[in-house]
Amino acid sequence: MIHTAFRVALPLAAAILLVPPAVAGSDADPAGEEPEFGLLKEAPGVETTFYACTACHSERIIAQQGLTREEWGELIEWMVEEQGMVEPEEAELREILDYLATHYNVDRPNFPTRHSAPGGG
Ligand code: HEC
Repeated sequence: MIHTAFRVALPLAAAILLVPPAVAGSDADPAGEEPEFGLLKEAPGVETTFYACTACHSERIIAQQGLTREEWGELIEWMVEEQGMVEPEEAELREILDYLATHYNVDRPNFPTRHSAPGGG
């Protein structure tokens, strides 16, 4: 007599495969497109101005200013003499002054609006 008692134990490894939630951060926010030059108006000369002027401070300090070309010239001179700004080459300076006098003159056509200032001002 052969007792064939097969005790087939099938260990059911309950393999619960939890698919980890996608860690794909939504850093790239397609809705929140930042303008490349911050507050500065995109126009000819903005790039030169942005890079020459935002090394030490935010572009906001520029955007909220409204000056004549002559006053901008004096301000940049002051920035060079008193703040250690690298003196722009003549062509560069002209480009910056053209840009500033056009877009940040006394009529302040591009004065930053309050909604662009988180935390007010
Ligand atoms: C080397 C550093 C440096 C660079 C580059 C620089 N600035 Fe400034 N700027 C300063 C400092 C420092 C102050 C703040 C001085 C203070 O308020 O005590 C300032 C202040 C200012 C102000 C405010 C002045 C006021 O009356 O309150 C304006 C406007 C300004 N900068 C414009 C510019 C522009 C335009 C450029 C580019 C052409 C520029 N800055 C580049 C250092 C710099």
